[in-house]
Amino acid sequence: MAQQWWRNAAIYQVYVRSFADGNGDGVGDLAGVRDRLGHIAELGMDAVWLTPFYASPMADGGYDVADYRAVDPLFGQLSDAEALIADAHGLGLRVIVDIVPNHTSSQHPWFVEALSAEPGSPARERYVFREGRDGGPPNDWESMFGGPAWTQVADGQWYLHLFDPGQPDLNWQHAEVHAEFESILRFWLDRGVDGIRIDVAHGLVKADGLPDAQCTDQGGLLTAVELPYFDQDGVHEIYREWRKILDCYPGERIGVAEAWVRGADRLALYLRPDELHQAFNFHYAQAEWSAQQFRTTIDDSLAAVAGVGAASTWVLSNHDIERHVTRFGGGELGLRRARAAALLTLALPGSAYVYQGEELGLPEVTDLPEEVLADPKWERSGHTERGRDGCRVPIPWSGSEPPFGFGPSSWLPQPRDWAALTVEAQRGDPTSTLSLYRDALLLRRDLPVEGLEWLESDPDVLAFRRGPSFTCTVNFGSSPVRLPRPGRLLLSSTQEPELEANEQTVTLPPSSAAWWTGEEDAHAR
Ligand code: GLC
Repeated sequence: MAQQWWRNAAIYQVYVRSFADGNGDGVGDLAGVRDRLGHIAELGMDAVWLTPFYASPMADGGYDVADYRAVDPLFGQLSDAEALIADAHGLGLRVIVDIVPNHTSSQHPWFVEALSAEPGSPARERYVFREGRDGGPPNDWESMFGGPAWTQVADGQWYLHLFDPGQPDLNWQHAEVHAEFESILRFWLDRGVDGIRIDVAHGLVKADGLPDAQCTDQGGLLTAVELPYFDQDGVHEIYREWRKILDCYPGERIGVAEAWVRGADRLALYLRPDELHQAFNFHYAQAEWSAQQFRTTIDDSLAAVAGVGAASTWVLSNHDIERHVTRFGGGELGLRRARAAALLTLALPGSAYVYQGEELGLPEVTDLPEEVLADPKWERSGHTERGRDGCRVPIPWSGSEPPFGFGPSSWLPQPRDWAALTVEAQRGDPTSTLSLYRDALLLRRDLPVEGLEWLESDPDVLAFRRGPSFTCTVNFGSSPVRLPRPGRLLLSSTQEPELEANEQTVTLPPSSAAWWTGEEDAHAR
């Protein structure tokens, strides 16, 4: 297999609960993923990242883990995970699993023991228990889901949870916590997984003395200000230890950081040669639809990773953020921009992450009935923030009515007009978003691994070359733009008639992207 496969890999994110239901209970599971692996392989992906499927009370959709070595009955059993890994490998897909080291579930045996122990006892040391301050919590830290990051227990002490109260933060100053996670890593690596995605990788170490953050709306400031519980320098020692473990295994096993940090430079620190292989590029996912914003983010990202010899990742959507069709304006315009963004993203040097359903052009579902909302944000915010369920609505596979082949039912209702967006409806249509992704992923295999050269262009246009024979153009503007013709058209995010080419110039339609081959090919046409 190719060396350093991750550097330019296309990686498909499966949010297991919402991908495909194999056992008929309306919730996606590992059997469902196994059945549908062909979709991911046919798309042309190199790897699949599975969100947590471990034993969990599901206070946060499985990111609250009670047993890191067991599969939750909702998702199947350990043998299903093993069979899924084997099937994926058989199809040429690598497998990345999610590890959640910042917190456990409050039903994890360690936390259950801590709660029944005395204040100050060793069982409490594995978590962050403190006395309160002035009758309230020990400091001003806020939960990412709203409200204080502390909950008081019966004897008066408080415990830290940067997320839900059902997700107590572990104490990473404790040797047993280190040893336990090293063992969990080995457990999954021994089962053949090719990588681990590290949840809240920036959160494990807290500033000494747990000082106040001295601001409010902390969850909204993740990439803007320094917070005493995120991106502390001490986290890097942990990843240096983990890298040694990954390197003990054959076949280039990788670590991927989910790290919300201030700038591309801070993110690159996680990618130093003795640390992790990849980190999600959330600055890219936060860029607004503007040539300038995308250009700046791409330049900053590439410069930062070059400094540490790593490759960048490119992320448009995931299970925590609003789907980009909606972020880019929604409706027809949002879809049009999303298709252009897909061609831009898949043309960049580095690794592209694709979130399930983006290849179908799915929008965010913004009108879910309140009674189905399951994201803890909804309750924790006092019903002011609906949370992330709108990007977690189950995938429409086939048929003309919900649940569109997801299973006999679906745990979140799908919009009726998704009938036109099912995999079945899009598969045979060369103009569909599914076909666009498939075509792009196939052509992407021939792109050079590194290198990007910007070409002079209109302020609303990004144009760049990758090697002598590939050019990508993106028109972010709302008017057509005329350019010297970059070569022969390979692929376009809009339909052919909109792209009027003559010998020397070409008109790029608004909100569109195109891929071109080099000059020689153009003349040969
Ligand atoms: C990460 C996950 C998110 C989860 C949180 C707490 O950000 O992606 O879904 O809620 O961590 O584990």
